[in-house]
Amino acid sequence: MLNRRDTLKLGAIAGAGLLLPVSRLSSALAEATALAPFTQPLPIPPVLAPTSTSSVADFYEMTIAPTTANILPGLSTPVLTFNGSFPGPTIKARRGRPVQLKVTNTMSTPSSVHLHGANVRPASDGHPVDLIQPGASKTYLYPNQQPAATLWYHDHAHHIEAEQVYRGLAGLYLIGDQNTDSLQLPSDEYDIPLLIRDASFDEQGRLLFTLDGFASRTVVLVNGAQQPYLSVRRRKYRLRLINAANSRPIKLTLSDGGQFVRIASDGGLLEHPVTGAEIELWPAERAEVVVDFSTRQTGDTVILENIFNGPNTPGRQLLQFQVAESAPDNSQVPNNLSVHPVFGQPIITRTINLGRDPTNTFYAINGLPYDPNRIDFQCKQGSTELWVVNNTDGQYNFPHSMHIHLVQFRVLDRNGVAVGPEEAYPKDTVRIPAGQTVRILVRFSSPFTGVYPYHCHFLDHSSAHMMAQLEIVP
Ligand code: C2O
Ligand code: CU
Ligand code: CU
Repeated sequence: MLNRRDTLKLGAIAGAGLLLPVSRLSSALAEATALAPFTQPLPIPPVLAPTSTSSVADFYEMTIAPTTANILPGLSTPVLTFNGSFPGPTIKARRGRPVQLKVTNTMSTPSSVHLHGANVRPASDGHPVDLIQPGASKTYLYPNQQPAATLWYHDHAHHIEAEQVYRGLAGLYLIGDQNTDSLQLPSDEYDIPLLIRDASFDEQGRLLFTLDGFASRTVVLVNGAQQPYLSVRRRKYRLRLINAANSRPIKLTLSDGGQFVRIASDGGLLEHPVTGAEIELWPAERAEVVVDFSTRQTGDTVILENIFNGPNTPGRQLLQFQVAESAPDNSQVPNNLSVHPVFGQPIITRTINLGRDPTNTFYAINGLPYDPNRIDFQCKQGSTELWVVNNTDGQYNFPHSMHIHLVQFRVLDRNGVAVGPEEAYPKDTVRIPAGQTVRILVRFSSPFTGVYPYHCHFLDHSSAHMMAQLEIVP
């Protein structure tokens, strides 16, 4: 497990930018052990059943445990799991109906479980030092007083979240609501989660982890499987896309040049659908899209591809859709999906610099390493702030992102260019390419006050100090 000395060794990595030559990215091992592509069905993570329900809440339990998973043919891979599932089981919640989640940690290391994108009290936020020690349990309370959204939960233990998420501690948490039901979007078996992450394996099938070792993570897994296929009917599907990789940005396309109709962003529905042929998602970003397979013929195949690094992107072909017969389809994508809140005028402008510290030994926010006891500023509950977030690592070509717990913010512009509506709201994570500046409006409208982290969501960076915290005060 990661110790302080490993963290400090990071200094040696500076200069290894994101866009490495493809020759250095290829892994002979991954090719040698790969199944023939598109021969195993796409796994769908199991939906977690409540252990009990009452008139006021649903109760769930999960156990964090090391186990093994069959990821590569003939090999068994030690992984860390919630309830033995890689990735973890999916929790389906409803707006207005609270969830109580009891998590028991049977690993030898501490954990903390964070529900990414959720509006929750600090005590249930999975703060990096609010740990579930080995052998202990903790109950998180999720009020679900927020619009329908594709959220995800993941480990957040101080300094080790990168490794623990990489080894498997992540899963989906879907909130549904009446507004979304009334839209008649594709649902049930036509609503498919695609949790995408990368990995590096040794010849025995063990996951290799080194902090910032993204260049060797050339195997890309969808719902824990390498290059699976999904048999689809000739009709519309809703796909929930989650980039759950530690450090790999993806840009998704369909191999037949088809279009995605984007309907939701990180924190829920867009106001109106946005049609396009590419979906760019950096770590922790989500998009919900509708793809209409009725425009294909039975027997066609369409491959979901990642072309972020161009045609030779490692693990480019992620998933194959195999088009079967038609199926009845009365789903639709209405032009009006939701109505977004109006933000007030910002009462303060803050400058947040994401970049290596001046001595180039760690990833810093405003020059400082993460200290769970330090609060960088206080924010007034109910107010709106303008954050100017600079990526100051242009010289190293390091990408970063900004994730703020608790809130869904509004992205204004990147290097002065307004972002499209698909990236404007509701967002909890925004990408900041090397050397660029992104401006966001943050509104602290939550009923909750207290201390919350904000950090780069390249988990290899947040685990190496690129994290800070604010305090919301009444
Ligand atoms: Cu998904 Cu603090 O992170
Ligand atoms: Cu979060
Ligand atoms: Cu970063």
